[in-house]
Amino acid sequence: MALSIPHGGKLINRINIDYDLTPISAEIEIDSMALSDMELISNGAYSPLTGFLVKEDYESVLSRMRLKNDLIWSIPVTLPVTEDEAANLKAGEKIKLTYNKVVYGVLELCEIYVPNKMEEAKKVFQTTDPLHPGVKKLFSRPNVYLAGPIQLIKIPPKGGNFPQLYKSPFETRLEFKKRNWKTIVGFQTRNPVHRAHEYIQKTALEIVDGLFLNPLVGETKYDDIPASIRVKSYEVLLENYYPLSKVYLAVFPAAMRYAGPREAIFHALVRKNYGCTHFIVGRDHAGVGNYYGTYDSQKIFSNFSLDELGITILPFEHCFYCTKCKNMASSKTCPHSKENHLLLSGTKVREMLRNGISPPPEFSRSEVIKVLIEGLKES
Ligand code: ADX
Repeated sequence: MALSIPHGGKLINRINIDYDLTPISAEIEIDSMALSDMELISNGAYSPLTGFLVKEDYESVLSRMRLKNDLIWSIPVTLPVTEDEAANLKAGEKIKLTYNKVVYGVLELCEIYVPNKMEEAKKVFQTTDPLHPGVKKLFSRPNVYLAGPIQLIKIPPKGGNFPQLYKSPFETRLEFKKRNWKTIVGFQTRNPVHRAHEYIQKTALEIVDGLFLNPLVGETKYDDIPASIRVKSYEVLLENYYPLSKVYLAVFPAAMRYAGPREAIFHALVRKNYGCTHFIVGRDHAGVGNYYGTYDSQKIFSNFSLDELGITILPFEHCFYCTKCKNMASSKTCPHSKENHLLLSGTKVREMLRNGISPPPEFSRSEVIKVLIEGLKES
């Protein structure tokens, strides 16, 4: 068995730091979500995308979770601009894409279109509720989409304190080969690591060669724990409880969409591009509040064959610590009643941490709690 084949057959590389900008005068300031999308298109993480979606692809992704060429793709990757900005642009021209006035990329503009955002929200998030953080973000961005291939001409700054953890799919694949891993399970996370995470990661690791821990460090909603603190908590956990030769930690600089099932597909395909052969989808993957059913993010994969996905999904039941088993377990492996199960919601835990209260060691390792509480005090 070899490493997984990138989605669409080959890893895309749109990085061109020698790009000659002199003939280009048009310029658009983009937001941090578009900047991170541009970076991930260019470094191959979003293969087969080579740019921001044209209308036909966008509509095909919304209606059938596929690009127009039939490849599975579940999340629209778009470049929103205002009506005023769009009025000065025309298809066929090249546009410098800036962030904080620094040019990071060039768009070869193919098409300008006005999306139906209500429809986009319904399809992607299954709700138009403005309180849903993904819907809120969608509607807070401008109303016209620019489409076309991009080139990244400057690598965005590696924010936070962990530039060494930024790896492109080319780099992770090289590392997996070096380690002689043939089967690799990818793990997506946006929350502080807890015992249930550790349990499902290690359970998965029992059946594969390596574990690729890939915490998302792009934009998240305001009350999620900042990425730098979460990454630090992973580092102390790895130091103390993981066999380092079997684990590879690198960050995923994408923005969180909170699109539940559709985002689970997107997360899996991207981790395939990083070289994973397996991907963990636990309870309410990429969910928020009560918008999605506990296992909707697992069920959605039944729409596709393994052949088409090119990555094996490892579904996990809701896991917890059982005071009778004195162990981590799930309803699949534990016969005891609910009163024996330690269940804490993400919101509850964040509230405890922000008030300096330690969740119990059965919920989270003490080393991790210490990092989280100290980190939040300073943030
Ligand atoms: S997510 O938004 O990135 O999915 P989180 O970081 O909480 O949020 O979850 C990371 C992964 O662990 C997801 O696949 C999620 O389904 C899974 N997960 C989180 N908590 C549990 C749990 N208690 N039991 C089973 N799976 C879980």
